[in-house]
Formats: sequence, C-alpha cells, structure tokens
Amino acid sequence: MARTSVNSSSSPIGIFDSGVGGLTVFKEVRKLLPFEDMVYLGDTARVPYGTKSQEVVIKYSIQNAEFLLSKGVKTIIVACNTASAASLPYLKDHFPEVEIIGVISPVVRYIKTNLHSLTKVAVVGTKTAITSGAYQRALQEALPGVKVLSKPCPLFVPLVEEGMFDHRVTDAVIDMYLSEIREAKVGAVILGCTHYPMLKKPLQKYFGEKVAVIDTAFHTAVSLDSVLCEKSLKNDRSVDGRNEFYVTDSVESFKKTAELFLKFSVDQVFHI
Ligand code: DGL
Repeated sequence: MARTSVNSSSSPIGIFDSGVGGLTVFKEVRKLLPFEDMVYLGDTARVPYGTKSQEVVIKYSIQNAEFLLSKGVKTIIVACNTASAASLPYLKDHFPEVEIIGVISPVVRYIKTNLHSLTKVAVVGTKTAITSGAYQRALQEALPGVKVLSKPCPLFVPLVEEGMFDHRVTDAVIDMYLSEIREAKVGAVILGCTHYPMLKKPLQKYFGEKVAVIDTAFHTAVSLDSVLCEKSLKNDRSVDGRNEFYVTDSVESFKKTAELFLKFSVDQVFHI
C-alpha cells in the first residue's frame, strides 16, 4: 500500500480500533482538537481482538497502520487497548516515520503525576490485554511497589454493544467479575478497554465515590495534543475538522453504533 507524507500539520490524525469502541477515544480527540481532520479505521470484520493471540493482533495492527498511512495521516492513535497492549512496540519499530500513540502510557503518566500515593490499583480489560501484562508492567515501572490487581471482563464488550449501560444484567456481571477487586479496596480502577467508559456510571456506583474510575480516552487525547505541539504538527486553522470513517464490515451497522456512541450524525463512512 502506498504511503504518503506524514509530516504536515494539515494532514489528518489517524485512529484505529478493532471496531466501534475506539470511538470513545475519537470523541475525546474531537473535543480537544476541533480543527483537526480525523480518519478513523474500525476493523469491524475482525473484531474482537480481545480474544485473539498476540501474533494475530500484531498482524492486524500493522495492516491497520499501513492503511492509515496510505491516507497520509500525521500521527496514529492506537485506540484499541488490546492492540496497544499486544502490539505497540512492534508498531513503533515497524513505522519509525510516524508518531504512534497507544492508550496505556497516557493513563499511566496521569496516575504517576496525579495519584502517585496509590498503593493498590486495578486494571480491567479484554483477555488478551490483561494476559499481555502490558498495563501491569507499565504501572509497576511508574509506581514502584504499587500492587496491581487485574481482571479480564469479556462480557462487558457485548453488553455495551447491546446498549445495556444501565441494566440489572450489567450490574450482575459487574459484581461477578469485580467483587474481589472491590473487597481488596483499591484506590483506582483503570478501564483498560475502549468499551468500558460506557459503563463508567455503574462501575463508579459499584466501587463508590472514593475509588477513582479512570478511562484512557481523555488522557490519550491530552497526550496527542502534547505530541502535536512538540512536533509542530498542530493544525492552526480555525475551521472545524472533517471526519472520515473506514470499516471492514457493514457501513450501516457501524453508523448506527457510532451515532449511539458519539451522539451526532455520522456520514462519510466507507467500506474497505
Ligand atoms: N477495542 C478492544 C479493546 O479496547 C475491545 C474490543 C475487542 O475485543 O476487540 O481492547
């Protein structure tokens, strides 16, 4: 696939995810950087990544980054936690010409700066993200001595995709997965999956107000902003940026879920 220039401030920002979940990151970037053009790739034909092996996730991530580079993006955000956990170092090695930002370092940096007195923290995510140990390693490196609890919560993704944000079944599943973590009295819970911010309300209620329930999307957008400033890649015009969405499966079903996630109407959706 042909690659085009990645160094111009007027080039778009590329974001990829295994499907629709990365729209939680897209939404935060859109809010923080309204004048940037954005190209989103949702690999909806091959979702979920969270149950696949690391080798497969690396292969898909490289293909996704190739596609975004063919659209001339100036940076790539790996919005998918599973892809960030399984493939970020490989992507950085493979594509040294472009800045690639995952979702793990931004949230770990935030915790190191703002919640450094934490002694116990939990991370929840897909099976592949949690078994990769990427979050756990990054947290222990940033906060030596911190106790990190982790739990894969595979049923959260389908619950979110069914729109069951406020539902007794969701509350029961939360309790099934997370009662041990609640009993362990952690100071913070990291939502290490693109879909989980949609369950922030019931999760915050479950853990109580004293526990920080942290999602990665906002912190990733903040990191992107710093990288763009640092590299003089920020688009300094004052015109609202354009959104383009690419999916590997049905355009219609992506549009429907995207509108549920983003709460605005989504045009410009293309099948690849
Ligand atoms: N986007 C994935 C993540 O953040 C969740 C969905 C999947 O398993 O692909 O880990």
